[in-house]
Amino acid sequence: MNLGDYIAFQQKRVDAALGRWVPEEAQDPSLIHKAMRYSLFAGGKRVRPLLAIAAAEAVSESTDSVENAACALELIHTYSLIHDDLPALDNDDLRRGRPTCHKVFGDAMAILAGDALLTLAFEVLAKLHGVDAQRRIQLVAELATASGTVGGMIGGQVNDIQGEGQPPTAALLDSIHRAKTGALLRASVRMGAIYAGAGEAKLAALTDFGEHVGLAFQIVDDVLDVEQSSEALGKTAGKDAQQQKITFPAVYGLETSRAMAEQERSAAHAALADFGERADRLKQLADLIIQRTA
Ligand code: IPE
Ligand code: IPE
Ligand code: MG
Ligand code: MG
Ligand code: MG
Repeated sequence: MNLGDYIAFQQKRVDAALGRWVPEEAQDPSLIHKAMRYSLFAGGKRVRPLLAIAAAEAVSESTDSVENAACALELIHTYSLIHDDLPALDNDDLRRGRPTCHKVFGDAMAILAGDALLTLAFEVLAKLHGVDAQRRIQLVAELATASGTVGGMIGGQVNDIQGEGQPPTAALLDSIHRAKTGALLRASVRMGAIYAGAGEAKLAALTDFGEHVGLAFQIVDDVLDVEQSSEALGKTAGKDAQQQKITFPAVYGLETSRAMAEQERSAAHAALADFGERADRLKQLADLIIQRTA
């Protein structure tokens, strides 16, 4: 299967599972389920689920139902986007090519939709079939830590908000990016590996890969914010400079930022040296993440 077909196939698999986990729009109280589905099915790239599935495949032949664990990552990610866009955070009007959740449903419902997606993520992991309790607990801990305040997504968001208008230093930048975005991408790879029963050595190598890809992902997000149009991105371009965010282009300039993303890509590939062909999909996904234009 070529990469495009593989991605389309896995995206469909993840979307079908998400559709089963999230209550139908008609389910009472209907408004929140509409808001959750509105943001979830707006055409995200599903990068985190794709990484989780490909990591599981790099470890084991039997990855049945891994899309459910992958769903948990997308639920957390979409919640983080809804909250990131709120007026009190980045105050964005456009997301995934549509008006943001709070623009359509109001701030209260957007906050609650984010809360609900976050809660559902852990329900999904608790209810995973065909995974022993020990591994389910590991997956829960992994996702909670990556989403949390100490080196996780929320901690990174705090530093990102507090960094607005501050002198952009390399140290601050590193702490923001590794946490706000890197942690969940790293966890995506790790959760796929844990799901598939990876031993310590494999898990360590995949963790290394996930860290490099995670950092590269946010470098590219920052670069695209400068270089691309809102139309291409499906979100407002040029926001970072406008809000005086601490970004890679702000600290290093565009050219060095791109070179740094490329370095992370090489390091990500190198981390998988011992896997041979089994990790080809992961390497292709890393390439795509770094070479993407939206
Ligand atoms: C955007 O993430 C937010 C960041 C963490 C930089 P994605 O680029 O993965 O967004 P979607 O899911 O495809 O919309
Ligand atoms: C957000 O980073 C990371 C999250 C935890 C959602 P950004 O603020 O750069 O994401 P975009 O550019 O709005 O998608
Ligand atoms: Mg933000
Ligand atoms: Mg934002
Ligand atoms: Mg951004």
